[in-house]
Amino acid sequence: MSEPDTRSDRQDEADISMVRTQTGRPAWQVNGHAAVKSLSHDPRLSDVDPMLPHTRPDAIASTSDSAGEPTDPDLADQAESLGWSRVLRKAFATERIDALRPRIADRVRSLLEGVAAGPRPPDLHSQLSVPTVSFVTCALLDVPQEDGHHFRTCWEAVKTGTQAEAGQGQATLLRYVRALMASRQQGGDDFVSTMLTAAGDNRAYLDRALKFLTSLVSKGRETPTNALDWALVLLLRDPAQYDSLVRDPRLIGPAVEEILRLFPVISGKIQGPEGIRRFALHDFEERARALRRGDLILLNVVGANMDTSVFPEPDRFDPRRTPNPHLTFGYGPHSCPAARLAKIEIQVVVELVVERFPTLRLAIDAEELRFKERPTSEGFDALPVTW
Ligand code: HEM
Repeated sequence: MSEPDTRSDRQDEADISMVRTQTGRPAWQVNGHAAVKSLSHDPRLSDVDPMLPHTRPDAIASTSDSAGEPTDPDLADQAESLGWSRVLRKAFATERIDALRPRIADRVRSLLEGVAAGPRPPDLHSQLSVPTVSFVTCALLDVPQEDGHHFRTCWEAVKTGTQAEAGQGQATLLRYVRALMASRQQGGDDFVSTMLTAAGDNRAYLDRALKFLTSLVSKGRETPTNALDWALVLLLRDPAQYDSLVRDPRLIGPAVEEILRLFPVISGKIQGPEGIRRFALHDFEERARALRRGDLILLNVVGANMDTSVFPEPDRFDPRRTPNPHLTFGYGPHSCPAARLAKIEIQVVVELVVERFPTLRLAIDAEELRFKERPTSEGFDALPVTW
């Protein structure tokens, strides 16, 4: 990988700069909104590293037949990746996700009654964000709500336990997901059965389903939990903004988009704060930079969401900002398949909090809120509030 020409001030070159990841690996970081958007669905990039040995000969064989499917292993990886995205989209079908909205609303209402009746000051992180996401995870998987507690205990062991406890927590979650998959193999119209039916007998997709579902019951719960925390903090740290939503609930829709724009996304696919990972499949030139096959590219959606050419005064939280073409869920075929669900969760929580607690305030100064310490997780330890 060649060194960048730091003397250049051309905007297109400035959109791509060279950085080092947390592990010291050089990478091209893409920052501008237009550049992130176009490279998000550029067929010259893949979410699979072409320099890694191909470990799925069966998947390659199944996509390199005489039916015109790609014979190049890189393209086979691409085809598999896109095929898996289609499986995900079937499982996250709009009707299935929309059907969850009233159930989520019922659960959030009852959590808010618990907040109102419980000791002061309540903590909206542990009493609202965490249980809401737990509810949604169980509802999506169509498993008993008590299982949410079980996931959480196992995941805490993985994160904070001894090596042996962490190993046991991980193994328990994996066993749980394998049993769940085995129980949904007969077909059905729930989320997991739909995913397995769409995966068919493709070994690679079934492996990805196992990984995805295991992540969903473990670290995958952190991003939506943090998004709910962020929503509440962004609204409450400026009481005038909160009050404007109380006066005019029609602002909640655009406010949720603005919350998402400012959300420092960390998801399972993003290894650190630098961006969504992609790899160059070929040598090519992009915005006057020479990219080489295998180069790591980081699509910095957080940076794109602050691009002044698209978002005037990007630092300002503006619940009236429209249009708001943020890239928080990525863009293109690999963009987050759960974007609709994540938005519904935030919308329902904000709507019902504003309705139930019109005089809500943070119980401490916003500066005193403590971020979680682990580098893979942006969020708050506690969100004490008053009214
Ligand atoms: C506010 C919450 C969330 C944000 C900001 C978010 C953001 C993202 C982003 C940026 C990507 C990568 C897109 C790309 O590679 O181009 C992604 C991928 C993904 N997300 Fe989310 N996500 C959220 C919640 C969720 C939830 C709740 C789930 C599961 C229920 C989920 C499941 C996935 C999956 C499976 C992928 C991989 C898609 C693929 O490879 O085609 N996300 N998400």
